[in-house]
Amino acid sequence: MAPSVRLRDVRPEEQDAFFEAFAAYHTELDALDDDAGVHSVEAYRAALLEDLEGSGRELWWIEADGERAGFAVVQTLPDWPDDRTDVAEITEFYVEPRFRRSGVGRAAVEAILADHRARGTRLVEAAILERNGAARAFWATLGFEARARLTARRP
Ligand SMILES: CC(C)(COP(=O)(O)OP(=O)(O)OC[C@H]1O[C@@H](n2cnc3c(N)ncnc32)[C@H](O)[C@@H]1OP(=O)(O)O)[C@@H](O)C(=O)NCCC(=O)NCCS
Repeated sequence: MAPSVRLRDVRPEEQDAFFEAFAAYHTELDALDDDAGVHSVEAYRAALLEDLEGSGRELWWIEADGERAGFAVVQTLPDWPDDRTDVAEITEFYVEPRFRRSGVGRAAVEAILADHRARGTRLVEAAILERNGAARAFWATLGFEARARLTARRP
C-alpha cells in the first residue's frame, strides 16, 4: 500500500537533523556534478539560515507514515519583471534511499503543488543536474517540462 505522505516544517531545534540529512543529499548529488566539492554543507547551512525569514525559503520534512523520509527546500519569490504573481522553485529535494520507489517523492511533490495552487503561485520550477537521470525521469513523470538548459564553464 502507498505510504501516507505529508510535509511538516522543520522546527529551529531540528536544524541539526536537517543538515545531517542535507549532507547525505549533498554527497549523493556531488557524485553527479562536475562542479562538485566547491561548497561545503557548512556553507549551505550558514547561507540557508542567515536570512531564512526574508529569503522566501521554506524547509520541509517529508514524512511517510509518520516517519521522516526526506526533505524539501522551496523558495517562493515574486516573479520578475511583473511581481504580481509568485514563482516557486524546489531548490532541494531528497527522499532517503530506503523510502525510494514507493511513491513518497511523488506524493511530496503533489503536496507542494497543491500548496502552491492554493496560494496562487504561477509556476513551480525544479533544477536538475544534467547527469541525474533518476531525477530527470522523476520530474518528467510528475509533469515538469524542460524549458531551458543552463550551460556553464569556468571563465
Ligand atoms: C529522485 C527522487 C527524489 C525520487 O524519489 P522517490 O520517492 O523514489 O520517487 P517515487 O517513488 O515517487 O517515483 C515516482 C516516479 O518517478 C520515476 N522515478 C523515480 N525514481 C526513478 C529512478 N531512479 N529511475 C527512473 N525513474 C524513476 C518513476 O516513474 C517513478 O514511478 P514508478 O516507481 O511507479 O516507476 C529520489 O531518488 C532522490 O531523493 N534521489 C536523490 C536526490 C535527488 O536526486 N533529488 C532530486 C534533485 S533535482
